[in-house]
Amino acid sequence: MRMPDVLQKKRDGHALSAREIKDVIAAYMKGEIPDYQMSALLMAIYFRGMNKEETVALTEALVCSGEVLDFSSLGPVADKHSTGGVGDKTTLVLLPLVAAAGVVVPKMSGRGLAHTGGTIDKLSCIPGFRTDLRPEEFRRQAKEIGLAITGQTPKLAPADGKLYALRDVTATVDSIPLIASSVMSKKIASGAGSIVLDVKAGSGAFMQDLDSARRLARTMVEIGTGLGRKVTAVISDMEQPLGHAVGNHLEVMEAIEILQGRGPADVTRLCLALGAEMLLLAGMAGGRQEAEEKLERLLASGRALEKFRLFVAAQGGDPGIVEHPEKLGTPLLKAALYAWQEGYISRVDARQVGVASLLLGAGRQKKEDEIDLTAGIKLYKKTGDFVAKGELLAEMYAAKRERIAAAEKTLKAAYAFSSSPAETPALLKGLITAENL
Ligand code: URA
Repeated sequence: MRMPDVLQKKRDGHALSAREIKDVIAAYMKGEIPDYQMSALLMAIYFRGMNKEETVALTEALVCSGEVLDFSSLGPVADKHSTGGVGDKTTLVLLPLVAAAGVVVPKMSGRGLAHTGGTIDKLSCIPGFRTDLRPEEFRRQAKEIGLAITGQTPKLAPADGKLYALRDVTATVDSIPLIASSVMSKKIASGAGSIVLDVKAGSGAFMQDLDSARRLARTMVEIGTGLGRKVTAVISDMEQPLGHAVGNHLEVMEAIEILQGRGPADVTRLCLALGAEMLLLAGMAGGRQEAEEKLERLLASGRALEKFRLFVAAQGGDPGIVEHPEKLGTPLLKAALYAWQEGYISRVDARQVGVASLLLGAGRQKKEDEIDLTAGIKLYKKTGDFVAKGELLAEMYAAKRERIAAAEKTLKAAYAFSSSPAETPALLKGLITAENL
């Protein structure tokens, strides 16, 4: 393989063979292909795209660059991945819920990225909780209690880490085949037989329009299926934040409320929908309705909450946070945002709320920034609600007054009003399975 030939082929819109793709990734990892040639290839892929066979081959090449875990001896093992959103605490609810139903979920999660939150940051609010399990601890815990969550290891799909860093500085991140192969390589390498993807669509998501979200979802399902995994993608709304809590400690509190059966309807609904797909793929239910009813019973009986407590304790955390959520931390300052006019709320823009939360200290502006785990936003009103002038819209939490001043304008800009009743965006926007690709 000569790299200039490969570049020319892709530049001219031809498909690369699986052999060429594998050779390129292997040579890049050995340092035989310089970054300038790899950048040129990424840009050619960005403009020319990749067909299904190329995308599967790229994913496989990324997987083969590192370790591949195997949890198949533990029973029906499932994984879940969200493409990232604002107020998305579903993993904290979904994992104990499906584990209570008998599905084993050893999950690797990430930290927050830009204006979106990350599960590892959220779990770090729990006093004593460890997010750095050693591989043998991770496996043992998954076997003993059915779930374990740890930070991502760079040993899985290391070629993806290297390529992602290059994409980040060459304006080639937002390409569907590149995103899909990047996400799926890490999922495949982490060893689950079945994977449920929550692909977000809307202002707060990577994919802002439904059509791109559908294309990304379809590509990821094709890749997973092509590599022998069972994969389903749920497309869900990210026009407005999920639930009422945005920010790490607030989101853990809200997740506990959902597990207690008193959480917001939208996150609860999404957890049931994603959980049902996980049960179906794991062969633990005969149909969607049966699966959802099973999960609803596990929530109502407190068994999912009990699993959450076991999980927190197993990872060194204090399960007393369930009765005493104040143990998750107390923000130093609180400021209210009141409605400046009367009307129906026609929009609560997820991206603006995410950015406001980041400005309050809940997210990182640079990779090395420390985050304030108690910072965030509590939304009292969402799209479709009617408010009188002066009514409480939201509360901001932060450690410094200047952070509240910086976030307030952005949070205000997230809200729009209308004089006539406004429609709430539909939460579930599509389902892509291997059968309906
Ligand atoms: N997340 C990933 O893991 N990879 C991408 O390319 C984009 C988001």
